[in-house]
Amino acid sequence: MRPHLPASPRSRSPASGALDAVDLESFASQLEDLRARALADVATADDPAELDDVDSSYLGRKGELRTLLGGIGQLAAEDRPKVGALANPIREELEAAVAARRARLLEIALEVRLARERVDVTLPGRAMPRGSLHPLIETQGEIARIFGQFGFVTYESPEVETDELNFQALNIPADHPARDLWDTLYVAGTDRHWALRTHTSPGQIRIMRETAPPIRALLPGRCYRYEAVDASHGFEFFQAEGLMVDEGTTMAHLRGLLDEFAHGMFGPQTGTRFRPGYYPFTEPSVAFDISCTICGGVGCPACKRTGWLTILGAGMVHPVVLTNGGLDPERYQGFAFGMGIDRITMLRHGIPDIRALLDNDMRFMEKF
Ligand code: DAH
Repeated sequence: MRPHLPASPRSRSPASGALDAVDLESFASQLEDLRARALADVATADDPAELDDVDSSYLGRKGELRTLLGGIGQLAAEDRPKVGALANPIREELEAAVAARRARLLEIALEVRLARERVDVTLPGRAMPRGSLHPLIETQGEIARIFGQFGFVTYESPEVETDELNFQALNIPADHPARDLWDTLYVAGTDRHWALRTHTSPGQIRIMRETAPPIRALLPGRCYRYEAVDASHGFEFFQAEGLMVDEGTTMAHLRGLLDEFAHGMFGPQTGTRFRPGYYPFTEPSVAFDISCTICGGVGCPACKRTGWLTILGAGMVHPVVLTNGGLDPERYQGFAFGMGIDRITMLRHGIPDIRALLDNDMRFMEKF
């Protein structure tokens, strides 16, 4: 038996076999030799491509077996069928061996893949940094949640407003001194027709004109003023406006609602009070104070030693404003309030400087 050569099966020359095979015995021994080499090559083929090569070099159309059998003509006529009888089982055996090896190679490939892709479920997971809402957005959501419990629906109102809605409809005439309360940014080239809203109050007019009472609306959003920026003033800030209009609405409703708000936002221990205030669009007007969140009402620098912090302005909607909203002030009454979301956020989280809220410094943001 020839020693098995590890060289590629294709490098072996099958042609010599045909010439050597001149009698039955030599045919038989060459067949046996072929069988042994083929089985060894099949067994050592390490991947499907190599197995294909082995397959075609022995069993293919130009393979050794066919070439060998091509020499059958040199045999005596009666010996030829015997060669066939010898060769056919060998061919079948080799075909079966190739098929078995092919199946095994697929199995091995799968095993390798499974081993490589094994997931160790006991390893600790890779931590996903958790995102968070911007503290202003989060506070706005909390405000909406609290007033939502009392039936207040949150609306959007435009940031670019007409002078008419931002001022005149709210009972602030063009040359009224009360305008000095709001340093306004006008849109260039519009002859002061369009302004960036200085407060969320113009949304009151829009709501009254667009919906019929009973109205319970919350209008949060960004506002702008021509302000010198410091630790407590931004030229860009956030307010939330509230408006309730119905028959028989009184200041007692306002008082009770704002108490609920203060307790919901700052805790049940929070003290509250109304102080007289002035706004052109409400009459009477009040400032709503809560007991100082830092000292609890004793008096400290944060509350200028008064024990109180003003968190919003409010009042009963002025009849002129109701009329401008298309409502009959003889039939309907309402209250309104407006708060600075920035200020509420700063109080909740003890943030000393309003500028931190819009700086978008990640070291600050990640604290929330
Ligand atoms: N718009 C006022 C401001 O920006 C806040 C305000 C006060 C709103 C009283 C109101 C209100 O609705 O009734 O300073």
